[in-house]
Amino acid sequence: MSVDRDSLMAAARSAAESAYAPYSKFRVGAALGFADGSVVTAANVENASYGLSLCAETVAVAKAMAAGKRGGLVGVAISGPDADRISPCGRCRQVLLELAALDGSDPVIWAEAGSGIREWSLSQLLPDGFTGE
Ligand code: THU
Repeated sequence: MSVDRDSLMAAARSAAESAYAPYSKFRVGAALGFADGSVVTAANVENASYGLSLCAETVAVAKAMAAGKRGGLVGVAISGPDADRISPCGRCRQVLLELAALDGSDPVIWAEAGSGIREWSLSQLLPDGFTGE
């Protein structure tokens, strides 16, 4: 099943409101869309020890897997502050791959920023990703 870009992005946008980003003030929301129609959302969670901060995408994957998701990831929407361009960091690409690889999916990734919505596949963002196989 495919996933609706605009509704997934709306979920990411509203998830960004829950960001805990007192250090960067850069509030990010992520929404994972699954083949069964379910959606898991999250926001970035920062830490006073800055390097321990967690991106919205990583928190979303952790939430989804802790809720029992084991594949079926078809789309990811990411929403950041209006004036900035956003794209998932390298760590998040690898974290997303762990979930996607469980059933060999290659989810579409949409990122919203001031300039509009950009689109990639996960394999474009992380070619030759490491799956442990
Ligand atoms: N951040 C995300 O949550 N997702 C991204 O795709 C890029 C960056 C967060 C990490 C940090 O809390 C803040 O944005 C500034 O880098």
